Amino acid sequence: MKMSHKTILLAALVGLATATGSRLSAADAIPTLEIQAGQATNQVSPILFGLMTEEINYAYEGGLYGELIRNRSFKADAVVPSVKPETYEAGKYLPVSYRPDTKPRFWTAVGGAPIVLDPSNPLNEFLNVSLKLDASAASATSPVGIANGGFWGIPVKPKTTYQVSFFAKASSGFTGPVTVSLESADGTTNYASATITGVTSEWKKFETTLKTKRVTASKENVFKLTTKTPGTLWLQNVSLFPPTYKNRANGNRVDLMELMADMKPKFLRFPGGNYLEGNAFNQRFNWKETIGPVEQRPGHPSCWGYWSTDGMGLLEFAEWCEDLGMEPVLGVFAGYCLGNGGKIEAGPKLEPYVQEALEEIEYLTGDARTTKWGARRAQDGHAKPFPLRYIEVGNEDWFDRSGSYEGRFAQFFDAIKAKYPHLKVISSMGHEQRPEVWVKSRLPDVVDEHFYRNQQDMEVNFNQYDKRSRSTNESKVFVGEWATRVGSPTPNMAGALGDAAWMCGMERNSDLIIMECFAPLFVNVSQLTGNGRSMQWESDLIGYDALNSYGSPSYYVETMFAQNCGTVIVPVKAEGIPTVEQTTRAGRRGGTAATRKVSSIYYSATRDSKGTIYLKVVNVAEAPQQVCVNVTGVKSVSGKGEVITLSADTVDDTNLLKDPVKLVPVSEKIRGLDTRFAWTLPKFSFTIIKLHTR
Ligand code: AHR
Repeated sequence: MKMSHKTILLAALVGLATATGSRLSAADAIPTLEIQAGQATNQVSPILFGLMTEEINYAYEGGLYGELIRNRSFKADAVVPSVKPETYEAGKYLPVSYRPDTKPRFWTAVGGAPIVLDPSNPLNEFLNVSLKLDASAASATSPVGIANGGFWGIPVKPKTTYQVSFFAKASSGFTGPVTVSLESADGTTNYASATITGVTSEWKKFETTLKTKRVTASKENVFKLTTKTPGTLWLQNVSLFPPTYKNRANGNRVDLMELMADMKPKFLRFPGGNYLEGNAFNQRFNWKETIGPVEQRPGHPSCWGYWSTDGMGLLEFAEWCEDLGMEPVLGVFAGYCLGNGGKIEAGPKLEPYVQEALEEIEYLTGDARTTKWGARRAQDGHAKPFPLRYIEVGNEDWFDRSGSYEGRFAQFFDAIKAKYPHLKVISSMGHEQRPEVWVKSRLPDVVDEHFYRNQQDMEVNFNQYDKRSRSTNESKVFVGEWATRVGSPTPNMAGALGDAAWMCGMERNSDLIIMECFAPLFVNVSQLTGNGRSMQWESDLIGYDALNSYGSPSYYVETMFAQNCGTVIVPVKAEGIPTVEQTTRAGRRGGTAATRKVSSIYYSATRDSKGTIYLKVVNVAEAPQQVCVNVTGVKSVSGKGEVITLSADTVDDTNLLKDPVKLVPVSEKIRGLDTRFAWTLPKFSFTIIKLHTR
């Protein structure tokens, strides 16, 4: 743990030294933050801090979703047509095809056995292919089979039980057995193995466990399925699961769930993002194809360039919410796909998609005995309905320049309100877009606004929402995607400072901004460049490989905010804040490198029902700055408080997989506080001061 900064506390302003920052232009001014506790009237949104997620950067496949086998259903090589809406029948599953003689991706042959995709021996209509293993050369001394290296490795941990399952059938006369094992990739170590008998000429599911002994954790490993018996084997849905969070079957990776739990998220926006829309009508997130037994889920190509098994389906998203105490914020497909994927204008042809959305809501919330889709949810293993209040219609529909969203939104809005009047409907046409494209025929309960910016743009927009109308005929705001895109694969301290300044602006306005979430949430950092890379989008909150994970400095900013927030917004009057000359690093979406003067300090304050005030202050200057904190409208401030600080020596400092906790918040108890006191903010820092007031 790094050393915390030294602080200077004074009971009064008299005698305060000036800030030492040599680059500060207003060198003689002592910045003052007056916390106007007597004027706190607006409520902090109780669901302000949340998460946004989609299948990007191997977020579920090779990420949160526990499955360790890559391409378990052998569909990564599927040839998927791009079907236009005019010829697509909503609700009808479209089978995919395969090129002849294809070797399944991410699988290798053991013992030189020929392996090939075999569409003529499918498991079912959804997993309409199998891996055919020609084991004719197998013998007692020369086993043959298949091996899978997982998503850039398979994590082997000590004293751990792994669940293995697969479907198999064999040529008649095959007597088996089959061996499954976890081995080091170089073949020198066998960590665990198990034997399966009873493979016949009919498809059957097999299950077993692999238990490791006291071994050193590693990821350079493979899963193998081999036989010493000659014959032909067909395999499908070959699966290997480690222990999951709360031991859920088909569940989630523990370390990533724990990182999220620390963020105390109140909601999860899912399933996207662009992932909701897909590149074509048959490639969108089609929720009905993501429920039920995993071997009945066809999967689909993510618009981010790789195959999704949809093991992380609608029910799994909802259970993820349940496990972390979040409420779902459900994005429903709104009849528009990305790029040339096409769209359906409002009217009768859109109606099947509106019904699909209503059924999706029923699947999550319907009574298990009295509704069709509630009963289906119960059959899938979750009788209790999920809480649901917010539905978002589409995603970033401003990508569709035709103006069709007005009508499409209205049709969804009316149908949702008619059946579920209590639900709040979110428009994906945020008011960060030109007013001409805003939805006008209906008043969306909430509008979703997205901001991907560089550090400077985040800082100069700190006041963006201060002047926004609060009138009752205005929609509330959901900042459903935002990030300071500086640092790769995850943001560095420059990104974290931009985020902290921007979050101060959102928190100060959280009577209007009811929800916010950084995006994207996850990145698998195993292969950052080249063909088949694991990252499609830079500057993501949490990074990981097959074995380890870490939070970026931005992750810690988010965590600090969510863990230290009151229930009412306390106005802060700032005086004498110096500017600082800042050279922008170009952001990833536009923005060229430029030098300009920006405020050096950003701030926000909230108070909880016990009188604790949480003062948040960001110092973007390259030097420590002393501020005077003046608390008005309270009888007293306890001398004892707490300070939590995240700071760095340079803005390029960051956390990485190999150095995961270089920058973490440091907490310390402090004394000598009063209604007026001075505090020295470290250079490049985000500080939270907790004051106990009466
Ligand atoms: O967060 C990455 C992408 O950015 C999302 O999928 C999309 O909604 C936005 O354009």
